[in-house]
Amino acid sequence: MQVLDDSSIVQQVARRVEAFHEVDTTGHDWWHIWRVWNLARHIAQRESAIMLQVELAALLHDMDDHKLAQSDGENLPNARNVLHDCNVDNRLIESVVQIIKQVSFKGAGVDTTPTSAEACVVQDADRLDAIGAIGIARAFAYGGSKHRELYNPNEEPIMHGTFAEYKSSKGNTLNHFYEKLLLLKERLNTQSARELADGRHRYMEGFVEQFLGEWNLEDKP
Ligand code: ADP
Ligand code: NI
Repeated sequence: MQVLDDSSIVQQVARRVEAFHEVDTTGHDWWHIWRVWNLARHIAQRESAIMLQVELAALLHDMDDHKLAQSDGENLPNARNVLHDCNVDNRLIESVVQIIKQVSFKGAGVDTTPTSAEACVVQDADRLDAIGAIGIARAFAYGGSKHRELYNPNEEPIMHGTFAEYKSSKGNTLNHFYEKLLLLKERLNTQSARELADGRHRYMEGFVEQFLGEWNLEDKP
């Protein structure tokens, strides 16, 4: 069996992940993975986290996501297969799987505080790509792909108390800002992510205010 060094493993995994996410119109395309990978490396360099675990988890974090994959979110078969095919040893596979399981948002009222430094980093990286200008673009891309309305003034945002409620919700995309995106800044785990989040959060607040102003014809000069 060929034994690869850390950077060759990461490159090999990255090529497989790129092929897997090639066709996606839900805001979870390869470039989302690429940005999360970059953000995770940036944060991990400033926190004490094991870089190889962080990079692999960042690359593989959406392969078994409930929003996309016809996959078992508990066992993560797609991520496991890639790691196995790249000859990653079982201990490292288990560490990476444990990180990925802690990444996702599961509803406003559900505690998703990670239990390892590595999971803190990857969760923050994924959440930074859900906010700011890119976060806005991704939210509406996702909403469009699921046939959701941009906004509906007759619907109130829902603070989901369980993952099951959150997963089955079909609300309009503007409500998603109150249900998730505007909550993320306060829930970040690391100082380096909080620094990047500030500007992104303010940009999103401005967007929501402008959107509602236009909707209600309150934006006249
Ligand atoms: P997570 O695993 O935390 O959900 P992802 O990397 O899968 O993170 O990205 C989730 C992104 O998908 C959100 O940031 C948002 O842009 C989009 N999304 C998810 N649910 C909705 C929704 N109900 N309405 C609009 N966008 C959504
Ligand atoms: Ni993601």
